Amino acid sequence: MEEQSVTVRKMELFDIDDVEQVEIACFSTPWSKKSLEEALQYDTHQFLVAEVDGKVVGYMGLIKMFTEADVTNIAVLPDIRRRGIATALLEETLKLARKSGVEVVFLEVRQSNTCAIHLYEKYQFKAISIRKNYYQNPTEHAVVMSADLSTRKKE
Ligand code: COA
Repeated sequence: MEEQSVTVRKMELFDIDDVEQVEIACFSTPWSKKSLEEALQYDTHQFLVAEVDGKVVGYMGLIKMFTEADVTNIAVLPDIRRRGIATALLEETLKLARKSGVEVVFLEVRQSNTCAIHLYEKYQFKAISIRKNYYQNPTEHAVVMSADLSTRKKE
């Protein structure tokens, strides 16, 4: 298959319908359009989309609180996975977060979600605790992971 180039950019209001479709395709309890719209109203919220051939195929959200931040979600459409799109989103998200003074990033991930756990581990996230029955539909524990950005090189 021909290599397609990925563009990562800030999520805008006109992306909401596409991002909602990514949420629906990827999660059992997707974020609503309203929640996604609200996320764009705050300076603390850093939401990026990934485009291939002008089509939004993935997105990632981060909420910053001074020197700490939480990943809200990362998702890529099922038919275009394993082509480095989440990697591109995560790299840009961490780069921007680091630039804006974030030192530690936290996230929760379903215990069974080995794809996402492998992705996060590649970027030096480490499991720090378990939140019991954190997820619904189906009920499942969350692994809480964190990554220290303060020792990484600033770009
Ligand atoms: N099995 C094992 N590891 C996997 C994997 C799989 N099926 N898919 C991705 N990974 C890990 C690997 O470490 C991979 O690196 P490698 O290719 O060098 O082995 C790394 O993730 C990066 O892969 P990439 O191609 O950039 O990821 P992707 O674009 O396929 O997206 C997810 C990865 C997790 C975002 C995607 O599978 C997804 O949208 N899942 C559903 C939503 C979700 O669970 N999000 C996480 C919420 S916490």
